[in-house]
Amino acid sequence: MEIAFLLNGETRRVRVEDPLQSLLDWLRAEGLTGTKEGCNEGDCGACTVMVSDAAGRRAVNACLTMLPQIAGKALRTIEGIAAPDGTLHPVQQAMIDHHGSQCGFCTPGFIASMATAHENRRTDYDDLLAGNLCRCTGYVPILRAAEAAALEQPAAWLRTDASFPLAEMATGGLGQTDPAFLPETGDELAQWYLAHPEATLIAGGTDVSLWVTKALRDLPEVAFLSHCKDLAQIRETPDGFVIGAGVTIAALRAWAEGPHPALAGFLRRFASEQVRQMATIGGNIANGSPIGDGPPALIAMGASLTLRRGQDRRRMPLEEFFLDYRKQDRRPGEFVESVSLPKSAPGLRCYKLSKRFDQDISAVCGAFNLTIKGSKIETARIAFGGMAGIPKRASRFETALIGQPLTEESMAAALPLLEQDFTPLSDMRASAAYRMNAAQAMALRHVRALSGAAVSVLEVTP
Ligand code: FAD
Ligand code: FES
Ligand code: FES
Repeated sequence: MEIAFLLNGETRRVRVEDPLQSLLDWLRAEGLTGTKEGCNEGDCGACTVMVSDAAGRRAVNACLTMLPQIAGKALRTIEGIAAPDGTLHPVQQAMIDHHGSQCGFCTPGFIASMATAHENRRTDYDDLLAGNLCRCTGYVPILRAAEAAALEQPAAWLRTDASFPLAEMATGGLGQTDPAFLPETGDELAQWYLAHPEATLIAGGTDVSLWVTKALRDLPEVAFLSHCKDLAQIRETPDGFVIGAGVTIAALRAWAEGPHPALAGFLRRFASEQVRQMATIGGNIANGSPIGDGPPALIAMGASLTLRRGQDRRRMPLEEFFLDYRKQDRRPGEFVESVSLPKSAPGLRCYKLSKRFDQDISAVCGAFNLTIKGSKIETARIAFGGMAGIPKRASRFETALIGQPLTEESMAAALPLLEQDFTPLSDMRASAAYRMNAAQAMALRHVRALSGAAVSVLEVTP
């Protein structure tokens, strides 16, 4: 298979011998060793690179990206962020001026994240840089550098990436007979997957890439969903919205700011900027993890899932998709096409409990969607992650709340029912007792949140 892309301003055509090779390994083998390997699992940001295409410019982890995913895109590594004449990018100069680097191992990754933010004119650095770890300098000089650079204009030499003739470079050389397939539409994917039901689908690859690099799994046949543009669309319908399976968490978050602000706020806690730019909502659901963040929130919203197999489609409430631990209602050759959301869910609030605020997987995640009539709870959809082998509704707890006043007392009275709804597990993230305790505390926290109390660490000011 052959792919083409723009690498630091120059066209590259690459014969891909191993479609599962990470972009990080490929870059370093090419001698572009400025991009560092720290954790090789998306946690440290040392491997961050800048990727541009028609959808925009974003920072991603090269260790989680597989080579075919950059076909037709423009890639900038640390070697290509300064101007061709050696003029430093404003963020590079600012890092020098503000002493933002000591050992320098994290610096190329920080520069890639900061330059991407700079070019996109974004200044929410606490969020944008949460996926970059520095072990010696400390973050204050780095943040000062980012803020100083923000006063400068975007770099003229990086503009070529945006005007790059992407269509011409798309998927050269990949075909139906390759062990890796790079379809451009959902129709192509549906047809191919029907004929190759044993294949592994790779959307963002933020889960699958770890199966390869950490679990050393062999995936003999794969299809990359990254170029199926129709799967990455969000459509409005008379009933609500249809979110394509290939919509990234970053795109979902940006879109949700309008109709579903509670979902948008919650997705701020999902991984890091780099991971969110790759990870898709379809991958988050299909992966079936009991601690995935998307499903509890979507279940509480009343989402339904559309699965597609060839030309056949079926739709189900999202909660019915999860059958048992890592077992979903998905047939051979069937894939997640979209998830449908209501027009609004004003009662929705989501809470994530993890050891770190940023870039951490949930120990427990609770999503509450209550509607109130008069002073009583009229409807209740409450779902938890981390409390069972699957993301699951708190059915008995919900039933006990309906018709009750929304008070701490009535919530407290219903709390024991959570022990009938869930039998959580103990693992390295939390013990079963802690999880139950935390879920019950979340329910009380929800009542306080609705009464206007500050319940998030971001709302608490000294
Ligand atoms: P992929 O890795 O491409 O695929 C995941 C699974 O879904 C595979 O089995 C794949 O075959 C299947 N699949 C993908 N798309 C489809 C489809 N359309 N139809 C059928 N099957 C499909 N997750 C969280 O929930 N919260 C977090 O905070 C979080 N933090 C993370 C931090 C790091 C550093 C990393 C590496 C991961 C983290 N994750 C987190 C997990 C991961 O990012 C998410 O589960 C993500 O949404 C997966 O999406 P993807 O597109 O990358 O899936
Ligand atoms: Fe740590 Fe990629 S090497 S995020
Ligand atoms: Fe050493 Fe950041 S400068 S890790």
